[in-house]
Amino acid sequence: QALALGIDIGGTNTAFGVVNRRGEIVTKGSMPTRGHETPHHYIAALQQALQPIIEQAGRDNFVGAGIGAPNGNFYSGDIVFAPNLPWEGVIPMAKMVSDALHMKAVLTNDANAAAVGEMTYGAAKGLKDFILVTLGTGLGSGFVANGELIYGHDGFAGELGHVIAVRNGRKCGCGRMGCLETYASATGIVRTAHLLLADRDDATILRGQGDEISARSIYIAAKAGDHFALELMEYTGRILGQTLADAVAITSPEAIIFFGGLANAGEMLLDPVRAHMEANLLNIYKNKVALIQSALPDADAAILGASALAW
Ligand code: BGC
Ligand code: NA
Ligand code: ZN
Repeated sequence: QALALGIDIGGTNTAFGVVNRRGEIVTKGSMPTRGHETPHHYIAALQQALQPIIEQAGRDNFVGAGIGAPNGNFYSGDIVFAPNLPWEGVIPMAKMVSDALHMKAVLTNDANAAAVGEMTYGAAKGLKDFILVTLGTGLGSGFVANGELIYGHDGFAGELGHVIAVRNGRKCGCGRMGCLETYASATGIVRTAHLLLADRDDATILRGQGDEISARSIYIAAKAGDHFALELMEYTGRILGQTLADAVAITSPEAIIFFGGLANAGEMLLDPVRAHMEANLLNIYKNKVALIQSALPDADAAILGASALAW
């Protein structure tokens, strides 16, 4: 078989692609993750979106589907207690996709899939020790050490989004307080914007945007030199950089690769992240860890990584 399906289930959108053996995405599409009453309704919509693509490429050409999902577990194929998905509890997603598409399906954590995608086709090609960080609706991470993705005892290793970045800090979707993703993610920086705007009177492009403020509108404002937007980058970069300094002490990576909505801010975010990470690193790690923005567009790293599971 020459083709695999890669599916990236995000907190906001689901992206999918047909991938060939060379790692080229030959067809791509997306649909909203939200707005479906139950996982079964979601699967029905996914099936409807994918059916014509599968038929067109020829069903027999597919080896199977690989899925990346928040709180996805490679061993069980389940999505387990996902704070950023509209469904509660344990969802047997690999089985549901397999039944709906009539092909083999494998599932893993979305950030782990992106780490595999970067390692196989992207910025991490040739790297043996790196951390992949996704800055989307949540904050995800995939840890690669000695050339291998760390799954951990039961498949949930690498939940950097839920390490405590601020004691008694913001309430997280997981039920705890102060998790890194409540500050450093596309949604986290928007939360910061609203909080700071409420009790200040800075002149900023963002003030008139109300509910339309997004990670994207913030970095566009920052690019235009808006001081408040630049301060949001600094604030977010500080909390992310401090926590990454701790993460570096765990696996001693040679690079940290960033991907996802907020990572599109590029150096405007990575500059403060780098400054605060370096300031907090143990001496032995200083000036050794490269911070790199993924070169793969959109959700491609996750689609590619997910599809790689299917082979
Ligand atoms: C989840 C992770 C996921 C990340 C990005 C977090 O809230 O706990 O499993 O990788 O969001 O989607
Ligand atoms: Na992970
Ligand atoms: Zn949390």
